[in-house]
Amino acid sequence: MLERRIRREDLKSKIMSAQEAAMFFKDGMTVATSGFTPAGYPKAVPSALAKRSEEGEKIGITLITGASVGDELDGALTRSGVIQRRFPYQTHKDIRNSINEGSILYQDMHLSHVPQYIDYGFFGEIDIALVEALAITEDGGIIPTMSVGLSPHAIKNAKKVIVEINTSQPMELEGVHDIYIPNKPPHRKPIPIVHPGDRIGTHYIPCDPEKIQAIVITDIKDKVRPLGSIDEDSQKISGYIIDFLEHEVKMNRMPKNLLPLQSGVGSVANAVLGGIVDSKFENLTCYTEVIQDSMFDLIDAGKVTVASGTSFTPSEEGLKRLIKNMKHYAKHCILRPMEISNNPEVARRLGVIAMNTAIEVDIYGHVNSTNIMGSRMMNGIGGSGDFTRNAYLSIFTTVSTAKNGDISSIVPMVSHVDHTEHDVEVIVTEQGIADLRGTSPVERAKKIIKNCAHPNYKDTLMDYLKRAENGKAKHEPHLLDEALSFHHRFLKTGSMKMR
Ligand code: COA
Repeated sequence: MLERRIRREDLKSKIMSAQEAAMFFKDGMTVATSGFTPAGYPKAVPSALAKRSEEGEKIGITLITGASVGDELDGALTRSGVIQRRFPYQTHKDIRNSINEGSILYQDMHLSHVPQYIDYGFFGEIDIALVEALAITEDGGIIPTMSVGLSPHAIKNAKKVIVEINTSQPMELEGVHDIYIPNKPPHRKPIPIVHPGDRIGTHYIPCDPEKIQAIVITDIKDKVRPLGSIDEDSQKISGYIIDFLEHEVKMNRMPKNLLPLQSGVGSVANAVLGGIVDSKFENLTCYTEVIQDSMFDLIDAGKVTVASGTSFTPSEEGLKRLIKNMKHYAKHCILRPMEISNNPEVARRLGVIAMNTAIEVDIYGHVNSTNIMGSRMMNGIGGSGDFTRNAYLSIFTTVSTAKNGDISSIVPMVSHVDHTEHDVEVIVTEQGIADLRGTSPVERAKKIIKNCAHPNYKDTLMDYLKRAENGKAKHEPHLLDEALSFHHRFLKTGSMKMR
């Protein structure tokens, strides 16, 4: 079995235990790992590293990953106090709490920017690349597992490489990956992807075998996250989007099989894509970041011919289904480095339809995707900005209220801005849809309040707008002393509703 997993004889001498490999990590190091969502991240070595710290050693590191990762990495290393700085995205409650308490320093970044930060040393030197692999080729090339993320850039730039060969990852994954690393400017060439299914690179990550210091064999499975059930609100949101896309086809603004779909993370995003299974659309393609459960439904229904992303992000059920039918899904899926999956040039060229989720939206179309009440980090912007800014059409979805109706997701002014009015084109809630293209700010505000706000908040929002319009500035009027009144009310009384 090991013959298939380590195909270069001299590297077999590098096999060691996770505990031995963990000894390479020293206090103050910068570590870049594989993993993008709880998929394809290293598990055995981080657990051993956490143990070293729990036993009293002082080890603090900067941790850079593709996106969020599983408990063995973000959870264990947070609880043991190993993570000091973290880039560029997370979703784990322990690390989120530490970031919000100030014990971990975090920069929330556009994911497509991260590879360049690594290449140019903006994070400092990468001491260790710690990557999960399916196998190592005869040349030392590393075949990733369920995600690619930033592994190519971590491996290329790190002083040392540590590999976890994960035997629980199915060999049928070989060939799914497409690794292409653009040159640095001014020698960068156009990325030759003109269709989501185009393959432009190798199926392994090139790696100088001399850099490989340790190989750890493990069979720990990805600790995937559950997806919320597809509820009535998500179904309504999905329905509005499908009707809207049908209208766009009728207006000759896109072909019958649409343009490549990008769909964000989370339950609503999964439900939106899931709704397409029962729609009339066929021969669809996806150029996205994460491939969630609903994509398998679309592939099985013969609706999606090809899905390009950087990671499989299934639920537990979805993971079983994926592993069992890997050969079948591998024919329809491509995993690329995040620099390519999230590339602005490619998103713009393909004319992606971007569908992402907001925490709150304001009446003029600015979107907050990251900070609850303006100052409590949720996850991060992830790839939503990469796609939103460069899409052919950028859509944001959100349920119109949160916390049992005490919070309106439509507010006069967002408490934190991730996506601006210049990039956000369509807002959808379970109440309805607002197409903001070709509208002035005040026209936008009226549409958003009328179509998307919850009935409990419509009058208060409209009242705010009317009073703001009474001032001198008529273009995008605000009452600055009241702009965050909805948030203040919630913080004081526990509800944004007027009493
Ligand atoms: N005010 C306060 N809290 C709010 C809120 C608001 N306006 N809107 C949502 N929330 C809370 C929910 O109550 C829930 O809290 P809980 O975890 O305590 O139950 C939490 O935020 C998540 O909301 P949920 O409705 O379950 O949304 P989701 O699973 O669809 O995730 C985002 C929504 C915005 C957090 C998620 O999509 C995200 O992190 N997006 C940014 C990154 C991204 O878009 N990546 C994709 C790029 S390809």
